Amino acid sequence: MTTVTAAEAAYVVAALLFILSLAGLSQHRTSRSGVVWGIAGMVIALAATVGLASRSITATGLVLIAVATAVGAGIGLWRARVVEMTGMPELIAIMHSLVGLAAAFVGWNGYLDVDAGSNGGEKLSGSLLGIHHAEVFIGVFIGAVTFTGSVVAYLKLSARIKSNPLTLPGKHILNVGALVAFVVLTVAFVARPNIGLLIAVTVIALALGAHLVASIGGGDMPVVVSMLNSYSGWAAAASGFLLANNLLIVTGALVGSSGAYLSYIMCKAMNRSFISVIAGGFGTPAAAADDGEQGEHREINAEETAELLRDASSVIITPGYGMAVAQAQYPVAELARKLRERGVEVRFGIHPVAGRLPGHMNVLLAEANVPYDVVLEMDEINDDFAATSVVLVIGANDTVNPAATDNPASPIAGMPVLHVWEAANVVVFKRSMAAGYAGVQNPLFFRENTQMLFGDAKQRVEDILRGLDALDAPVPEMAGTSR
Ligand code: TAP
Repeated sequence: MTTVTAAEAAYVVAALLFILSLAGLSQHRTSRSGVVWGIAGMVIALAATVGLASRSITATGLVLIAVATAVGAGIGLWRARVVEMTGMPELIAIMHSLVGLAAAFVGWNGYLDVDAGSNGGEKLSGSLLGIHHAEVFIGVFIGAVTFTGSVVAYLKLSARIKSNPLTLPGKHILNVGALVAFVVLTVAFVARPNIGLLIAVTVIALALGAHLVASIGGGDMPVVVSMLNSYSGWAAAASGFLLANNLLIVTGALVGSSGAYLSYIMCKAMNRSFISVIAGGFGTPAAAADDGEQGEHREINAEETAELLRDASSVIITPGYGMAVAQAQYPVAELARKLRERGVEVRFGIHPVAGRLPGHMNVLLAEANVPYDVVLEMDEINDDFAATSVVLVIGANDTVNPAATDNPASPIAGMPVLHVWEAANVVVFKRSMAAGYAGVQNPLFFRENTQMLFGDAKQRVEDILRGLDALDAPVPEMAGTSR
């Protein structure tokens, strides 16, 4: 009894730590403490769960738990250490597949346990038994959908299979049919539980998960990963009901709702319909390349950019996916520092879906020790471009595309973007005139106040740093007379 009370108390503490963790992670400057709260909560949760389990399992069982924890922690540490930032979405996808698989196993175990009359020593009857069977069915369904959905997401994101959307004839009817079958089978299972129905729902859910994600195009995959994150939370909550584990219910609900909200925010920032993304690409617009006549672009070199920056009073840097690819965040941070030392006002403007995962740019800039107070969100900085001398667009494309606001026919029409073109001068860092992620041409590159600085973003920023140093260096013939 005391172990149970202590474990329940520990669960409340762990749940509070998880809530603090989410609150911390929601802001740049508190994100590190958010991670620490999360780790502390998880350590307490694991210790309490093992403590609870130790009441009813043998020493061999405890050894097996210790071995499984050590192996799991080892694999987790290794993967987290070696993963590239650009590989995070696929790592997260494969992690979610494990949560889904675990939830499906917990559901199956819940059925077999009760079928064998044990259920951890408790005998269920009447409506409690009905509720238990509904939990089993729902847990297995959500878990299996999450499992195959996440595996397909992983395969697409890691380019092991094509990212094109699968378009089976009547695909929406297939999805709706699977959901209807799930509801009918749940009712039948609660009325007359049998293993055949459980096998049927498992197969339907595995197929539905794979089909839902296979139907979604590469463009929406990051939203899908966040949606699968949400599903994995609901799968964990379903397991919590089955195992009568309050912490699992609370944690699952936190993950489920925050994942769903994050997906909603991402859809809004990409001007995509939330429903259409989760329904498997319903009404997905074709991202057509707009190759219409755009006019001439102008080029600038690193030395000229250094001069432009030397004479600037205010600079805004808008990074995008290309900064991540080039790993240019360190020289970019150094450039910002140098310009600030010269009295130039330097700020960063961050689009909510710049890069390939939420907070991508914030993480890179934090890694390079850019002070938080100069890193502003799109809404905070969008009105300031008009009063800015120079904007450096470093590897960003779609997120600074004026067609989103000017051209209703553009595939990205309506997507909120950074109004960089309102500044006096815009320098765009990229390697070619190629389109960005959405596959649409960017009229920004052909505007009168825009100049293209071609090449790898990291190398070009380093060239600019050298250019600034050269501008600072005393002119040789003046050196002797300067006193
Ligand atoms: P993108 O539109 O993806 O453009 C990135 C640009 O970086 C490209 O035009 C590319 O041009 C350039 N680039 C690549 N490697 C480079 C290098 N080494 N040096 C210099 N430039 C390089 O970038 P964005 O503005 O960040 O937009 C993000 C896109 O991803 C949006 O369409 C968004 O909807 C989508 N998306 C984002 C998310 C999240 S959560 N962030 C989720 C889903 C989708 P070159 O090839 O010519 O160099």
